[in-house]
Amino acid sequence: MAYNLLKGKRGIITGALDENSIAWKVALRAHEEGATFVLTNAPIAMRMGEINKLAESTNSKIIPADATNVEEIEKLYVEAMAHLGGKIDFVLHSIGMSVNIRKNIPYTELNYDYVNKGFDVSALSFHKMLAVAHKLDALNEWASVVALTYIGAQRVYPFYTDMADFKATLESIARTFGYHYGNHKKVRINTISQSPTKTIAGNGIKGFGEFYDFAQMQSPLGNASALDCANYTISLFSDLTKMVTMQNLFHDGGYSMTGVSQEQLSKMNG
Ligand SMILES: NC(=O)c1ccc[n+]([C@@H]2O[C@H](COP(=O)([O-])OP(=O)(O)OC[C@H]3O[C@@H](n4cnc5c(N)ncnc54)[C@H](O)[C@@H]3O)[C@@H](O)[C@H]2O)c1
Repeated sequence: MAYNLLKGKRGIITGALDENSIAWKVALRAHEEGATFVLTNAPIAMRMGEINKLAESTNSKIIPADATNVEEIEKLYVEAMAHLGGKIDFVLHSIGMSVNIRKNIPYTELNYDYVNKGFDVSALSFHKMLAVAHKLDALNEWASVVALTYIGAQRVYPFYTDMADFKATLESIARTFGYHYGNHKKVRINTISQSPTKTIAGNGIKGFGEFYDFAQMQSPLGNASALDCANYTISLFSDLTKMVTMQNLFHDGGYSMTGVSQEQLSKMNG
């Protein structure tokens, strides 16, 4: 169902790689809610070509940009404002990657070149996107910026290795930049801490399938889907949540507040 929640709003959506991507669902829902936006992803991700389908169905322009490259981010904002006809009202940061996880390197033996790469892509890219927007004065007052994160920032999940450190930094950037941007321009910045979700990034984690089932068992409402996450994101982009900022918001069917579920205990009894 659509409510016209984003009617007249202009946005930038990063991270839509294929139809399973959380950002893909956010783009579809933002379109349904009346927004106009540009899609962006790393130039290398364009090779998959899937994003063209999304651009077509949402009537949006694609502007490739590596989110670790400040010049490319500048170009992204300038072109987005020219194309959309004004300053930006919402930005989705939906970007994450760990080379150490991809290569199955344990946390106790991290490769630091890979750590630096993952930190830049997964955490600093968020600061860069905010700093460029701030410098160019590219966001309207009361604009809303959302980044996606995971509870591995607060609790240990052995398979999440260095992504835990990247996400902890990402959440900290949302708080700290949220303070400064809120003071200067009433721009609000939040992170959504999402359930495990079956996407390319999610499935890249060893043992993800088993963990998905474990989380499902622990969450009174079950795991939140990518579409559920998109709906929550839309609410944060809308004016209905205009006083929410600097928060890490759990969107996980109750997982984070459940110590153990009866179903999990019953499994232990065999
Ligand atoms: N899937 C999950 O279980 C889960 C759970 C909680 C949070 N998240 C977070 O959600 C976000 C989106 O992930 P997803 O699950 O939709 O997976 P996804 O693989 O579909 O999306 C990750 C995106 O990051 C993009 N990206 C990588 N390097 C980039 C760069 N240098 N510049 C620009 N873009 C780049 C990729 O091209 C891809 O589109 C990530 O931040 C992820 O950590 C995912």
